[in-house]
Amino acid sequence: MSSETENADAPRTEDVHLLVVDDEKSICDIVGQYLRMKGYVVTCVGSAEAAIEIIKQNSIDLVLSDIKMPGMSGVELLKWVREYNRSLPVVMTTGFPTLDTAIEALKLGAFDYLTKPFHLEEIAEKIKRALINKQLEEENLLFSKLVSLHEVTKILASTYQLPELNHKVLDFSVKIAKADGGSLMVFDEASHLILTECTAHHPAEFWQNGLFVTVSRWVAENEEPLVMESGETKMFREFPPLPESVRSYIAFPLKTPQRTVGVLNLIRARDKHPFSNVDLEIINVLASQASISIENVRLYQNIRDNYLKTVRGFALAVEAKDRYTHGHSENVMKYTIVLGKRLGLSEAELEDVKYAGLLHDIGKIGVSELILNKPGRLTPAEFDEIKKHPTLGSNIIADVPFLRPLVPMVLHHHEFFDGNGYPSGIKGDQIPFGARILSVADAYEAMTSDRPYRRSLSAQAALEILMNGKGKQFDPRIVETFTEILRSGDGQH
Ligand SMILES: [Fe+2]
Repeated sequence: MSSETENADAPRTEDVHLLVVDDEKSICDIVGQYLRMKGYVVTCVGSAEAAIEIIKQNSIDLVLSDIKMPGMSGVELLKWVREYNRSLPVVMTTGFPTLDTAIEALKLGAFDYLTKPFHLEEIAEKIKRALINKQLEEENLLFSKLVSLHEVTKILASTYQLPELNHKVLDFSVKIAKADGGSLMVFDEASHLILTECTAHHPAEFWQNGLFVTVSRWVAENEEPLVMESGETKMFREFPPLPESVRSYIAFPLKTPQRTVGVLNLIRARDKHPFSNVDLEIINVLASQASISIENVRLYQNIRDNYLKTVRGFALAVEAKDRYTHGHSENVMKYTIVLGKRLGLSEAELEDVKYAGLLHDIGKIGVSELILNKPGRLTPAEFDEIKKHPTLGSNIIADVPFLRPLVPMVLHHHEFFDGNGYPSGIKGDQIPFGARILSVADAYEAMTSDRPYRRSLSAQAALEILMNGKGKQFDPRIVETFTEILRSGDGQH
């Protein structure tokens, strides 16, 4: 019995690196020499324990291991390898050619086995086959990852809120790269690289330590990815060392053709195998898509903000036509926000119903001021004119892509729950939920403000009218909720 570590300090190259594990020194010597002659880089060790250390510290392409060894057996080593890196092939050798041992090894995921004494050509042949198989498995893995990446791309492209997008980018990257942690750093308006997202196990303080910040800045500046592995301090002398808990670290620039938007950081823990070339390729594709999505959302939000400013201007212009409705839209918007929150709308739905509140009467821009400001009762013809405003308003906003979700709310904000409203006469659940919310907010706001033909009602009187209108003009559930809000004082503004 001997335990010898030979060639353990061999430099890591792009060539195929084999690890031979056998407690018999003569076998190590002969097999090692033969395989080196074949052009492989070979490391030989005399125990499974030593093999584990070599695998952790090097990029090994294949393990050729004896089954029966003192201490940890070859089968136990095989089990460890399957856990550590499923794609690392293991070929077993045994001097005890019992079928049971061989079957057990194959069941546990060994690629093949050889019985001693073996011909050297036989070893070379099995190794060649195992390496071809490994390559095919990696290609399959790349393909399956590309398929899931395609799904991810679709999801990213349809996410329009920046915080949600940042979260998804990091979440998908960590999952696809099988990373143990990650963070996303994005440039803010003032061109500062800011930590915007990080995984739960590694809090912000972890990512804000010297190394990750320094490397992220370097990667953003140089616009190229950087891969670091534990123990590679010589290559990266200007950077602080990796934290003890980290085995492998990749920092990827998030680039669009115009600029770098940020940096994606991913790490693997000390007890895991380092990132492979397949991982790098896949993260590269994901990072490109993520950069474009982040930039698009930014541009989209800028355009959206500008549109909303313009449209808000329109809403104010409408109110300027009608001196009695000054502040009406802003107030309706405030009521819709508290109502929407209490009714459990999502952030996106809340955003839509909020702007629908602001814009619901925008169609009045097409209604004569004489009618809008008429102090007396309206004639049926004049009322018909007023009734056109939901349709006019929905037509105005329909041409703005991000205002499109508001169209049904603006169009139907004068529908009645019992079907006696306008313009469509739809009822109950047929009326979009947002429109039913608007209807209650709109009516309450109108009743508690002065109008050309009457003074404002008290909050109590307006609430009673809403209660009487339950199931007729209004959705009963929304009136109930609104009543609760007003009674608890949340609707004050
Ligand atoms: Fe209206």
